[in-house]
Amino acid sequence: MSLLYFRDRENVDLENVFFEHSVSEQIQQFLKEHQFAEILQQYELPVANKILLYGKTGCGKTMTAKAIAKKLNKNIFIVNLASVVSSKLGETAKNVQSIFKESNYENSVLFFDEFDSLGQIRDYDNKDSSEMKRVVNAILQLIDNFPKNSILIAATNQIQMIDEALIRRFELRLEFALPSKIVLEAFYDKLLSKFPAKYQNVEKQYGISFSEAKDLIFRQVKNNIISDEMNKLN
Ligand SMILES: Nc1ncnc2c1ncn2[C@@H]1O[C@H](COP(=O)(O)OP(=O)(O)O)[C@@H](O)[C@H]1O
Ligand SMILES: [Mg+2]
Repeated sequence: MSLLYFRDRENVDLENVFFEHSVSEQIQQFLKEHQFAEILQQYELPVANKILLYGKTGCGKTMTAKAIAKKLNKNIFIVNLASVVSSKLGETAKNVQSIFKESNYENSVLFFDEFDSLGQIRDYDNKDSSEMKRVVNAILQLIDNFPKNSILIAATNQIQMIDEALIRRFELRLEFALPSKIVLEAFYDKLLSKFPAKYQNVEKQYGISFSEAKDLIFRQVKNNIISDEMNKLN
């Protein structure tokens, strides 16, 4: 087991992820092409296998990466970029290269979460950005030799931190924006449907992330349950 990545078998179903319509369509197309990748490749048709998920925190990027792996029945290797970006100058590029050697990601999903951690290298090495260049080059090399039957997914809340040359390598770039009112309403309905009607009395907010919405609802439902129980005691 490496400190730099871990294999994950988390159970996230794509059906439980809420998407804006255009994102959902692109993911469905991506999945279909992967299900039929072999025949498409026989005709020398390109099948996209590199996805960049970007946008607001708490909107489903990590969840989506895991759900795609599950849907395609592939293992997912989650690369811990924070630990890859070593505090020791000069180690990061070496770490990146060792991931590609060590992890056997043939026919798997290789997932760089918090891809923008790479940007922090600039802080360690701000006089000359040679380490940054080495790391970007190591990743570009990985991408250019990436196996066709594997999938590379990177996620970031800060796409502006990421080198243009890297961004361009991803065939699919999907934005995870804050959910619209309609989508969030559907999300609230789904969350609340698990609880008896008497606990469903909550105040909803809009213009927030799914993750914030979930916290907001759970806090209120918990308090509804607790005050109900307390009333029973009195
Ligand atoms: N699009 C979504 N659909 C359903 N639940 C979501 C969605 N986005 C976030 N959540 C909820 O918020 C949690 C955190 O989401 P996560 O995927 O880690 O967001 P991100 O990686 O974009 O910061 C998830 O585990 C899930 O409970
Ligand atoms: Mg995340």
